[in-house]
Amino acid sequence: MSGTNAFVERLPVGSLGEPFWFFPTIGSTNDQAKQEAEAGAPHGALLVADEQTAGRGRGGNRWTTPAGSALAMSLILRPSLPAGSTPFALNVLGALAVSEAVESIGGEPAIKWPNDVLMAGRKVAGVLVEAAWRESDLEYVVIGIGVNVQPAAVPAEHQVAFPAASVEGVLGRSVDRVELLVGILRSLDHWLDHLGSAELLAAWEERLAYVGQAVELESDTGSARVEMLGVTPEGRLRLRAADGSEMVAGDDFRSLRPVDSDRR
Ligand code: BTN
Repeated sequence: MSGTNAFVERLPVGSLGEPFWFFPTIGSTNDQAKQEAEAGAPHGALLVADEQTAGRGRGGNRWTTPAGSALAMSLILRPSLPAGSTPFALNVLGALAVSEAVESIGGEPAIKWPNDVLMAGRKVAGVLVEAAWRESDLEYVVIGIGVNVQPAAVPAEHQVAFPAASVEGVLGRSVDRVELLVGILRSLDHWLDHLGSAELLAAWEERLAYVGQAVELESDTGSARVEMLGVTPEGRLRLRAADGSEMVAGDDFRSLRPVDSDRR
């Protein structure tokens, strides 16, 4: 697996990846990135760790990053959001960028709402977006991305709520995580110029998993079996209920899984 120099040689990519910090081991790159952002780190600053000992996922979940087998990165952005755009404009970026990077090395990923990346129906990457606002102005956003590159990065089945896999495991060949990082940054650099645009939403939605399929939606109040139709411009899921009516998932919606999934 590549060390710090292999990363440095390929950076920056467009406006992203400078300054660059590499950590052989760290608690969480997102925690460190937030500290750097508070201390004034500029747009495009990038942190990568070989190992995380306290990696964080969405919803307070843990995210494991064993040494030498995964990509763990946090990117600090200070974008100007187009008027009227919602946090969803930032949320979609990470999963789209990972998907395009995986496609560039021959994979066929899908995005599980809102920003998990699946290969062969299993999760290979997750994105944790943390934004700091001053009143209605976005001060900075940290996009944290974790990719299971090698099979050794895949957590045990009992540790995860959704089946996981690795990019190498699905592709059946070795994958260079520097190559993957460069692909992710290239995609982000492109889409950052199109935040809140119809093209960005379309690129994200065309990779959305389970469209036209039955899914089980879980909310604070229970679960329901519905058909997935797509998303609204604000990123809410459009669904068809069992009685044939169209609906939009509410704020209490927590997670979804395909009805034929073998897991919870
Ligand atoms: C999820 O699917 O729950 C999101 C996982 C995000 C993990 C990445 S790894 C790099 C960055 N640092 C963290 O502590 N978390 C994110």
